[in-house]
Amino acid sequence: MIALIVAYARNRVIGNQGCIPWKIKGEQKRFKQLTTGNVVVMGRRSYEEIGKPLPNRTIIVVSSTRLFEGENCYIVNSLQEAIKLAGNRDVYISGGAGLYAEAIELVDKMYITEIEADIEGDTYFPDFEKEMFDKEVVERFEGEIPYTYVTYTRRR
Ligand SMILES: NC(=O)c1ccc[n+]([C@@H]2O[C@H](COP(=O)([O-])OP(=O)(O)OC[C@H]3O[C@@H](n4cnc5c(N)ncnc54)[C@H](OP(=O)(O)O)[C@@H]3O)[C@@H](O)[C@H]2O)c1
Repeated sequence: MIALIVAYARNRVIGNQGCIPWKIKGEQKRFKQLTTGNVVVMGRRSYEEIGKPLPNRTIIVVSSTRLFEGENCYIVNSLQEAIKLAGNRDVYISGGAGLYAEAIELVDKMYITEIEADIEGDTYFPDFEKEMFDKEVVERFEGEIPYTYVTYTRRR
């Protein structure tokens, strides 16, 4: 299975100045649950934001300029190479913007956290054809900024 996983604001902002521009307690729980034991593919800038390999996951970083490898952490030149390296393991593509844009046409599923606010930022999730997917609302969380876990599954 190839999936992407993202949290985006109502205006589709995903990042600002290299960071995630909100702090909402608990919002990243789903990321941890879904990706633990699996393969996470991310762009070089997103990896540098985290700054270290994530525990209990294999990380594949896409970069054409850097070389850093560690335990369960690999670097490749393209999304296609990352998917090849993952073999038959489940893959979660986790940004940023360019990788999401490439991934949308490949993914079976999109695990999206909809943040219910317009947020200022400089990095956006691309617009996509919603009619290509079935949308399931999984759970909504109340709070200062409410958010909802949704899953889009590609129509076959
Ligand atoms: N809200 C969320 O769910 C979420 C998730 C992830 C990230 N973010 C946010 O998004 C921002 C980072 O995203 P970003 O779009 O700026 O950067 P990014 O995608 O994380 O990293 C971009 C870099 O990845 C490499 N790359 C991407 N596609 C490639 C390809 N096809 N071939 C070779 N290299 C490729 C390049 O590295 P080189 O320059 O080394 O070649 C490129 O400069 C941050 O603000 C972060 O907080 C938010």
